[in-house]
Parts: sequence; C-alpha cells; structure tokens
Amino acid sequence: MSSDLSEIEKHDDSHPELNAHTDALLPDPGMHEHHWRPTDVDPKAEKRAERQVSLFFGLSALCSVLFVVAYFAVEPGYDGDVWAGYGASNLALGSTLGFALLFLGIGVIQWARKLVVDIEHSEDRHPAASSPATREVAIAELKAALNESGMARRPFIRNAMIGSAALLGLPAIVMLKDLGQTNAQITAEQPYPGAGLEHTVWDAGVRVVRDVVGTPIRPGDLEIGDLVNAEPATIFDGSLHGAPLQIAKSKAATILLRMDPNDIDNDVTRNWSVDGIVAYSKICTHVGCPISLNERTTHHLLCPCHQSTFDLADHGKVIFGPAGRHLPQLPLGVDADGFLVALSDYPEPVGVSYWERNTHDIDTIFDDWSKNHAADAEQYGYKEGGQ
Ligand code: FES
Repeated sequence: MSSDLSEIEKHDDSHPELNAHTDALLPDPGMHEHHWRPTDVDPKAEKRAERQVSLFFGLSALCSVLFVVAYFAVEPGYDGDVWAGYGASNLALGSTLGFALLFLGIGVIQWARKLVVDIEHSEDRHPAASSPATREVAIAELKAALNESGMARRPFIRNAMIGSAALLGLPAIVMLKDLGQTNAQITAEQPYPGAGLEHTVWDAGVRVVRDVVGTPIRPGDLEIGDLVNAEPATIFDGSLHGAPLQIAKSKAATILLRMDPNDIDNDVTRNWSVDGIVAYSKICTHVGCPISLNERTTHHLLCPCHQSTFDLADHGKVIFGPAGRHLPQLPLGVDADGFLVALSDYPEPVGVSYWERNTHDIDTIFDDWSKNHAADAEQYGYKEGGQ
C-alpha cells in the first residue's frame, strides 16, 4: 500500500539530476506482495492478542508490587535472609524488577507486532532534506499513525500499559528510603562508637597503632621524615565487627609524620604534635582518596587522584589542587606507658564535604577543642606549645 508521502516523494522534482542518477543506479524493485497478519483478518485472533498484551502488562504491574513487598519483607545485609546460598534480598529485588521491565517490554513489542495497523510504505531514495510539502505530509502521517496505534480505540490495554509503567516508578520511590538516616539521627542513636559523618572511633586515650599489624607506637620509634599509616587501637580490640568495623576503619585512617619541630609553622599544628610527630586524616578532603605521597623535605602530602597538596607543617592547609578544605589534624599525646595516643576524636569531620557539614577556620576549631578537651588532654601530656 503506498501513501500520500510516497506519492509526493515520487513527484519531488527539487533534485531532478540526483533523482535520475539514483533511478539509473537503483531501479525501483517494487513492493512485495503484502501478507496480512492473523490479527488483521481474524477478529478472534485480534481479541486473543489483545488479551495476551494485557496479560503481560498485568504481570509487569504484579512484579512491581512484588518488588515493594520484597523490599520490606526480605531482610537484607550481612545477617539477612538467604535463598539457595545467595542473599535473598538481592535475588528478590533483582528478579521482580527485572521481570517487571521484561513483561512491560514484551507487552509493548507484542502490541506493536500484532495489533498496530500493518501498513507498508514505499518511498523513492531522495536527498536527505525534505521539501516543506513533504514535511507537512509527514506530520499528518505521524498524527494518523498515532490514531492507528490504537491508543484511542483500545482504552483497556492503553490504560493497562500506562498503569504498569506508572507502577514501575514505585520501586524508584521506595528505594529513596535507602538514603538512610540523617547524620543527626545516626549520631543520636549511636549504634556503635564513631557512627555518623561527624565522628570517628578516635577518642581521648585511644592508642595510635600501625595499620595492618596493630602494634602501638612510641615517639622514639619514628625518625625525622618517617611516615606511618596508622589506625586507632579500637580497630584491633575486637569490639567492632562486620560493616561497623569496616566503616570505622575507613573513617579513622590516619597518617603519622615526624618532622623537625622547628619546621612546624602553625601554632595549632604545634599544640597537637608530640616531638615533631603530627597526625592527619588519610582521607583527601576533595573526593576522599587515601593519601600518603609524602615529600620529605617540604612536608607536603600529595593526593594521587587529582594532585591536591596539603602542607603538614601548617595545619594541613591546601597549597595546590582542587581540595576545598585543609586536612583534619588529630591531636596527639602520650599515655603512661609512653605510647602515642589521641587526645580526642578529630576536632572536625574527616573526608569529603557533605550537606550538613559546617566548615570553620583552624583557629575557631582549636578554640572549640580547647574549651571541650584541653583539660582532659593534660593527663596525656598536652600543653600549649607542643610536647
Ligand atoms: S581526591 Fe584527592 S585531590 Fe581529588
């Protein structure tokens, strides 16, 4: 069956030489005999196809509902439900959402293959730019195609498709719950020490130990220029397990650097140091890469991800790169056995910025810390001016 569009294109003489040329190269092969589909000629087959398409849309809607049920009914996490050795939550959510999409897709394809009006168009090859008349006809044909698709004539399956597509939005809305609690809620509940974005497991008197092996460190163990990856002893004392342990470890990651005390050129940095040993968060304040590329002579610490550079002799201030904040410093002291300890948690949140975070300059941070922690810190040898 030819269309108005093909008739116009046949008589489009805006490019006569090109038309003659392409006609010579590719003679019109004509149209094949058209084969009508069963649904075009048999009303019963058409009804059957309509029921099939509706069934697929219905199954899609059912799977979306099952996704929501599984989201709340199946326990996720380390100690969650298990099916056949696999995490039940992942299986249930993945399969229900997958089948919801699959059935919706099958329904749309079946509708297009079996029920949308089956018309064949023929069209001569012609230059890409259409004439205004052609475009007008194309728009008219698009409108006609919209009518022929049955959107208006088949309200039941149209509504079934719209309903199933709308229900597919439910999983996306439900999953917003996984954004979790606000930082204030986490901090209020404190399910484990250092929970939330503001705090780590560092605390007054917590020993600074070597990462991986967990051995404590005396100031004399480090020579000038040495850099050590450290963690709080809490990570190794068995009080934390599973996800809380991993979260606590990642947030508390710290680097120790020993420098000549005379090289320190910031009073706050000096106050929180021991014999020229300073401790800083290992987490870059740009987007959170672990940092430990140290320039021994300058005390500059370079982040390998985007080259932010922090001056460890001067409160970790940013001297180059995209980081927007200085590196948080951990106040250090020494316990009765001569091992390095923290004087408190980090006085400010470590890591990248987040929506609730307050940012202060180092002097304000130190004033707040002095009010709340300086007195307790004296038992670990703290005194203004460095230890
Ligand atoms: S993460 Fe360190 S500079 Fe980007």
